[in-house]
Amino acid sequence: MAKREDRFEAKGLDQAAVESLAARLATLAPSAGILSLRGDLGAGKSTFARAFLRSLGVTGTIRSPTYTLVEPYDVEAPAGGPARVLHLDLYRLADPEELDYLGVRDELDDALLLIEWLGQAQGELVADLELSLAGEARRPQHRDIVLRALRPLGRRWMTRLGRS
Ligand SMILES: Nc1ncnc2c1ncn2[C@@H]1O[C@H](COP(=O)(O)OP(=O)(O)O)[C@@H](O)[C@H]1O
Ligand SMILES: [Mg+2]
Repeated sequence: MAKREDRFEAKGLDQAAVESLAARLATLAPSAGILSLRGDLGAGKSTFARAFLRSLGVTGTIRSPTYTLVEPYDVEAPAGGPARVLHLDLYRLADPEELDYLGVRDELDDALLLIEWLGQAQGELVADLELSLAGEARRPQHRDIVLRALRPLGRRWMTRLGRS
């Protein structure tokens, strides 16, 4: 069974609350690692990623990586945070080998990765922390979220969130 500190759950978050969680996680983010964003189409994965990037100082257009699969950003994080963030959407990844051509593997040590549809990588990329977003049938503007630490780096990230 997962230890209690490996899991954080919140229900009925409106968009502002989801964006504020994204901003808090961004501020506490490690310099490298993988945050998997899970949920159905329209759950709010890209909305979360956009708020995460904005809070790290990204001011220009934040394009969806739907077709490019990866969009890179040089960012200004607090000390210890990421200097570079890659936003990936692997929905259209045909083969995990494509990750080599995209240059993702070369960046793993020096960038923080936000990944939508990580399952498409078939285990080639492994998440440290996972955020699941799920809609609520009766309240279309609200989301239930579960944050789960899958590796020690994600656990430390979550612990900082708990203390902040
Ligand atoms: N509480 C909420 N959290 C996140 N997005 C929400 C929320 N309520 C409504 N939305 C809307 O739902 C849509 C989510 O789309 P998007 O982030 O592109 O989803 P995904 O990337 O998961 O397919 C956006 O239009 C957003 O404005
Ligand atoms: Mg998306």
